[in-house]
Amino acid sequence: MACRFKCESKIYATKLIIIAIDFVILHLNFKRSFHDLYIKKSKSMIINILGIETSCDDTSAAVIGDGVLLSNIIAGQAVHETYGGVVPELASRAHQQNIIPVVSEAIKRAGIDKSDLSAVAFTRGPGLLGSLLVGTSFAKGLAASLHIPMIEVNHLQAHVLAHFIKNSPDDNRHPAFPFLCLLVSGGNSQIIKVNAYDEMEVIGQTIDDAAGEAFDKCAKVMGLGYPGGPVVNRLANEGNPKAFTFSKPHIPGYDYSFSGLKTSFLYTLRDALKEEPDFIEQHKADLCASLQTTVVEILMDKLRKAAKDLGMKEIAVAGGVSANSGLRDAFREHAAKYGWNIYLPPNAFTTDNAAMVAITGYYKYLSRDFCRMDAVPFARVQL
Ligand code: KG4
Repeated sequence: MACRFKCESKIYATKLIIIAIDFVILHLNFKRSFHDLYIKKSKSMIINILGIETSCDDTSAAVIGDGVLLSNIIAGQAVHETYGGVVPELASRAHQQNIIPVVSEAIKRAGIDKSDLSAVAFTRGPGLLGSLLVGTSFAKGLAASLHIPMIEVNHLQAHVLAHFIKNSPDDNRHPAFPFLCLLVSGGNSQIIKVNAYDEMEVIGQTIDDAAGEAFDKCAKVMGLGYPGGPVVNRLANEGNPKAFTFSKPHIPGYDYSFSGLKTSFLYTLRDALKEEPDFIEQHKADLCASLQTTVVEILMDKLRKAAKDLGMKEIAVAGGVSANSGLRDAFREHAAKYGWNIYLPPNAFTTDNAAMVAITGYYKYLSRDFCRMDAVPFARVQL
């Protein structure tokens, strides 16, 4: 099985390198006018980083020029909806179909030519191996053809550095170092002390499920589809957050746990359904509101403790769950009550996107932190 996957992976990688080289040859434009060449010359003073993100089920490419976002294209994969979760094999096949149009569009919308690119940054991990392989192999082919460096990016670091994406050259609102970042997504729930662009310390993390996973799994048992987080959020806005009480974990330090909450939610439904068969339908909004409040309280209790203990007031949030309106409200309340300077990412940068990969690549480019052409993806990797 492992051997089969290894062989298939190699075939995938070879195919992608060929596709990427074809892509470059196809787009080579030998008929450049004097005007075009002049533009290229002036543009070449700018550091243009192409970011490629394929860690899960979104194929995304973005261009950042001198730290300013020039384009950010995301192609989602509806194919997983019927299965109630991401199917890894289908994800990598969809990435293969999407990668060329997505990269082409990102370069086009950035208003540059691929020859203006300074480097290609790509997500090396963590994520689904087959999906990562598509982005990694494509990045290799493109960088080799253009004779530019490759930059490997840690997906978790990229979520944090999304706060440094500039929408315009004078957009200077970003957290000051050191700051705390609550990173909450479908696979991670961490409190990170960010000392510099390239120096991050995980001071607390989930010992079992992630916050996004808790939203998704509870949504699944209510038949709300995948991904469940956004649906729970929408229904929660119409429900009573005090209607139900679910158990909260009691673990030391800054670590999280969400498996107990999931079980408690499941048992509440199981017991209630015995008495009232259409219990879920009748109480959907209240269940979602109570679930969301519990998740947010668990997250904020530990974050508040960490901020207090470390005496920090620069506090950011990142990752897919940072789109949650209940969590955002809790951040605003904490800012008012505890004098926190808070940083909430724009919705477009909460879930997986290549803009965050490109900005991370930009800072790594400035410190000449390039990777070798034989870099392989990592399914699991820490910060
Ligand atoms: O960061 P992300 O796009 O992917 C990774 O896991 O890396 O996060 C996806 C997670 C899913 O669990 C999804 O349900 C959750 O973010 N999510 C939300 C909301 N939007 C996305 N959870 C709660 N409320 C939301 N509005």
